[in-house]
Amino acid sequence: MSPHLLSVDSLSRDQIDHLLRVAARMEPIAQRRQVTRVLEGAVLGNLFFEASTRTRVSFNAAFCRLGGSVCDTTGFTFSSMAKGESLYDTSRVMAGYCDAIVMRHPEQGSVAEFAAATNVPVINGGDGPGEHPSQALLDLYTIDKEFTRLGKPLAGAHVLMTGDLKYGRTVHSLIKLLSLYAPMRITLVAPPGLAMPDHLIELVASRGHRVEQRDSLASDYADVDVVYTTRIQKERFTAEMSEGFSLSRDFTVDRAFLDRRCGRDTLVMHPLPRDSRPEANDLDVDLNGDPRLAIFRQTDNGIPVRMAIFATLLKVDELIEKDLRPV
Ligand code: CP
Repeated sequence: MSPHLLSVDSLSRDQIDHLLRVAARMEPIAQRRQVTRVLEGAVLGNLFFEASTRTRVSFNAAFCRLGGSVCDTTGFTFSSMAKGESLYDTSRVMAGYCDAIVMRHPEQGSVAEFAAATNVPVINGGDGPGEHPSQALLDLYTIDKEFTRLGKPLAGAHVLMTGDLKYGRTVHSLIKLLSLYAPMRITLVAPPGLAMPDHLIELVASRGHRVEQRDSLASDYADVDVVYTTRIQKERFTAEMSEGFSLSRDFTVDRAFLDRRCGRDTLVMHPLPRDSRPEANDLDVDLNGDPRLAIFRQTDNGIPVRMAIFATLLKVDELIEKDLRPV
């Protein structure tokens, strides 16, 4: 495995399956039913130059659950980048302090640039509209776990992705991961101007998957297994795009859509955050409490999956079994 996790492109199918197996083994530790100190003495540098709740806190918690400690920096204002320090210098400095680094940055490619200056494992916690590989791994883990519960195979699954497919980095990573599995059907529904980039559609189609683009949710989706919806990333819009943009209510995933258009066990996923402002028309709160809504099971899965990423990159995955201690 590459020393870093910058893009899902660096992962083979065997490596992904290994990570998912390690994640499953981490669940009792994530829930503190078992304890390990396998990363005792290790330090994680968490560098978040863009807003985050889930990724920052769950990477932090995952490292602590493995016995390590975390140094957090949030926002440019609180780093010396605010004084003009380069990514290269920051990377060289942080490598002297930390055993692993998670970084989120608003510019695509910036985390890879940072990683090129160090051999300390660097994990991309989201680089602008680029990728979010740990989110995609936890999404895949969630789909696999939910399908096992429902007795469904992943092969032949029908996944609908909707929302901001242009700037949504989670869908960019997830579609690539899914494309490594048995042929499935992928339907993409985006508002005007926010379609999935062509190169990703071509990649997925070239791997034998059936990809279809539609411009509306007003269709029959009874055979859809997963509806994966995303927030509109207005913070990445150009001034021209922002001018007068509003998301039509027709793109909202809500109870009426699920009841009228989808099947009885269609799962609803979202990487979160969902925009709760009414005008945002993001995933509706009327599905809260509906068992088909998997979003909080998804966030819970973030801890064991991120533990598995650390354990594998820091090469302690084989040691954990021997290190387990009672709570
Ligand atoms: N899904 C996700 O990346 O959430 P945060 O922005 O809160 O980290």
